[in-house]
Amino acid sequence: MAVSAILLPISILSFAIIYWLGSAFLNHWHHERTRAKLGCPPMKRYPSWDKLLGLDFVYAMFKALKENRFLEFQTETYSARGSKVWTANFMGNRMIYSSEPANMKAMSTSHRDSFAVEPIRVANGAITPFTGRGVSSSDGAKWHFSRGLVKPYFERAAFSNLERLSAHVDRLISKIPTDGSTVDMQPLFQRWFLDTSTEFLFGQTVNSLDNPERDWPHRDMVTVMRGLRLRLQLSSFLFLHRDKEWFAACKRIHGFLERYIDRAYQQVEDEGKTGKSATNVNGEPRTDFLWTIARHVPDKLELRTQLTGVWIPSNETTSIHMSHALFALARHPGVVEKLRKEILDYGDKALTFEGLRSMNYLRWTVNETHRLYPVSLQTVRSCVKDTTLPTGGGEDGTEPIFCAKGDIVHCNRYLMHRDPDLWGTDAEEFRPERWEHARPMWNFVPFGGGPRICPAHVMVDTECSYAMVSLLQRFKAVEARDDEPYTAVMRVGPSNKNGCRVAFVLA
Ligand code: HEM
Repeated sequence: MAVSAILLPISILSFAIIYWLGSAFLNHWHHERTRAKLGCPPMKRYPSWDKLLGLDFVYAMFKALKENRFLEFQTETYSARGSKVWTANFMGNRMIYSSEPANMKAMSTSHRDSFAVEPIRVANGAITPFTGRGVSSSDGAKWHFSRGLVKPYFERAAFSNLERLSAHVDRLISKIPTDGSTVDMQPLFQRWFLDTSTEFLFGQTVNSLDNPERDWPHRDMVTVMRGLRLRLQLSSFLFLHRDKEWFAACKRIHGFLERYIDRAYQQVEDEGKTGKSATNVNGEPRTDFLWTIARHVPDKLELRTQLTGVWIPSNETTSIHMSHALFALARHPGVVEKLRKEILDYGDKALTFEGLRSMNYLRWTVNETHRLYPVSLQTVRSCVKDTTLPTGGGEDGTEPIFCAKGDIVHCNRYLMHRDPDLWGTDAEEFRPERWEHARPMWNFVPFGGGPRICPAHVMVDTECSYAMVSLLQRFKAVEARDDEPYTAVMRVGPSNKNGCRVAFVLA
């Protein structure tokens, strides 16, 4: 009796190990056979001692995240391989890391049907406590439906008149000290963006610039996004994520969104009864994002999913981009001078979309900020059928690579944007003038590319340009008030740990 009580678990364990080893061997054999059949030589590998789960690589990555060295970690791991494409085992998943424009292009366009986002975002439950299959987290027919829902709104918002921005920008400027004292612009830009985006997405601003205590949705979204990033990384070890504060923040944001949703549904109903167009609190007709989609999505949970599907990718983007731009400007007075000249030459004419586009140096400065400080570091996709990507294999890294079903491919725009082979020996320098001759293709994709390109890209650059022009109309110079280097802390994308501490000089 005692002997069989010991033998049974040993037999089960032995069987499980044999089964696991057998299937690992078969998978490897199938993988190598298909790779050879498709004519793809092997890629460089991260030299893990833990062949099973790659825990040494996992540990190195989490350590870099904790020490705010994630960007340096990217640079180091790529250069240690001596290759722009390599592979690693991360918690039992095969990862492919690439900073080759050709792979980014193929994965986003010609080969996009072999890649998907749902398996790494929704199917594994990584994001489902917070959101479901919205535009940024679905594939196939569901993605087409969601993209169709959001597209007309963004197309209209990008080119519409800029008056909607002016009140928010004026309020932002009113918070800046005019006596030359130091101000951290990063939190101000975050509140500014919360105010503009709640008005633009939900039809009612929280006005956190005037009421700082109302910025809790921003703080909660940072918690939500940090948790989402961790959950996406944990993949098969998701069960380890039990952060109560994260679940509480998700709940508070749901409540916040539902108040807007209830109001929109109520107004749709009232409109049907009275025939009168719904208005905002200021009496103007509603034209916000929620309003344009509410009547097409009668299910409340589905509508909340569509809202979060847009709100998630908008978080810590424009605000951090603005903060990055100012961080760079404060360290490059010559660039500020040239920008000011262009802005003064424009004169007192109203700021229009076309007017902003006509300012070349402004556009170059916005581009240069996107290039050096991309707020979205990588495009990540799960491979859903065996395929190839154009380059990165073999000794010299120029032959096609094999992507097997289940592999997770990371196309790294941070490294691509700083690659001296693509941008010259001064690639690490902030120099807007380079854009006079640069003809960017897939080496410059701050907003991604192909059918899934960020639908807000024109709007983002317009908002950023508008705010920069307004700031430099009011102030003639901006001085850096710390000499700390840019230290990326990964909350959602990278933002500067030390914020953006500057002082302005009145014009
Ligand atoms: C500096 C600002 C921003 C940057 C750099 C940026 C960048 C990106 C990138 C790289 C993608 C992924 C594209 C791909 O998978 O190929 C994306 C997707 C997306 N972005 Fe943005 N974004 C910004 C701001 C915004 C804002 C303000 C909004 C909304 C108000 C927004 C909404 C979206 C949506 C909905 C998607 C998903 C598109 C899809 O999967 O079809 N983004 N963005």
